[in-house]
Amino acid sequence: MLGNTSATVATEAAATTSPTPAPPKYPHYLPTRPDGYAATTDVPLFHAEEPGLRADPSKPELSKAATSLRNITPRIGTEIHGVQLSQLTPAGLDEVALMAAERGVLVLRNQDFADIGFDRQRDIVRHYGPLHQHPTMGYPAGTGPEFHVVYADESVGTLRDLLGPRPSYDLWHVDQTFTPNVPSTTFFWILEGPAGEGGDTAFTSLQHAYDALSPSFRETLNHLEVFHTSASVGEVARIGQERALREAVNTVHPLVIEHPVTHKPVLFVNPTIGRSVQGFHASESANLLAFFHDHIRSLDFSCRVRWEPGTVVVWDQRSAAHSAVPDFAEGERRHMVRMIPYGSQPKAAFPRTGEAPR
Ligand SMILES: [Fe+2]
Repeated sequence: MLGNTSATVATEAAATTSPTPAPPKYPHYLPTRPDGYAATTDVPLFHAEEPGLRADPSKPELSKAATSLRNITPRIGTEIHGVQLSQLTPAGLDEVALMAAERGVLVLRNQDFADIGFDRQRDIVRHYGPLHQHPTMGYPAGTGPEFHVVYADESVGTLRDLLGPRPSYDLWHVDQTFTPNVPSTTFFWILEGPAGEGGDTAFTSLQHAYDALSPSFRETLNHLEVFHTSASVGEVARIGQERALREAVNTVHPLVIEHPVTHKPVLFVNPTIGRSVQGFHASESANLLAFFHDHIRSLDFSCRVRWEPGTVVVWDQRSAAHSAVPDFAEGERRHMVRMIPYGSQPKAAFPRTGEAPR
């Protein structure tokens, strides 16, 4: 029997009233944008070092420090215990770049990275290249737009709110590929995770996505090029189509690139930014890209990273695409920071005969 007593009513009322949210654990990392939003800036081509090319292939510093190195799947992802990113020498940081290139994504547990301060965080990631300055994302007060704060809570909402009603919210992409130089060894760390479950990040290997295609199909792809634009799905959602198109920065990259560190061919597709195949009719391009965008989602090449306090993820954006998994409860706080260095300009894995490699 349902009890309709005043005590029951009071209990039900308490259950439907949201509790006062706990204050953030890292208030000095809350996103701010005192200078307002900027237009997406074009970054002209520049020569970028690839630290992974300098690394000793045997990775002596990582091997010595690691107490556990466990592959998440055979094709992508390695979880590392015992290595402290903040303690690595420049040669050790080079080894991280090489390993991230080879494995797509590294998951480093029990890091002090979130607590070493803005300057040291910036210095470590800058080891890999000049840092991308995000035009719209918030950054911690007193820093700059090279810190990309990814923040959800009861007032700002999540990716679900940004993208509107959809049947699912995975949004596979590579960050900021609309400039000649593209992101390389990217750092993403957690400050505070949802009190409940969820908020993982998924990664998929673009190298293994290429390898899985038939030799005949690969042949037809090897000389194609893709138009990349900052007027991406995410950017249109964030600032509106009109402004996104007006401020767009565009470039063209080969569809199949040679990874600058591993030298392996990579299917360099980017569902949100790489929008059309050069020289194809719109329907040809849309259908071919739709096939790839479905293909790279396969569990054959992908993994899902669960965040724990102290986790830092380092991934190579030429090796792996990624997606947020915004499955945590409405209103829960998830507080993360990302920093993106630029690497070299992608070059074709199979330049046409007589064509100078880019
Ligand atoms: Fe991203």
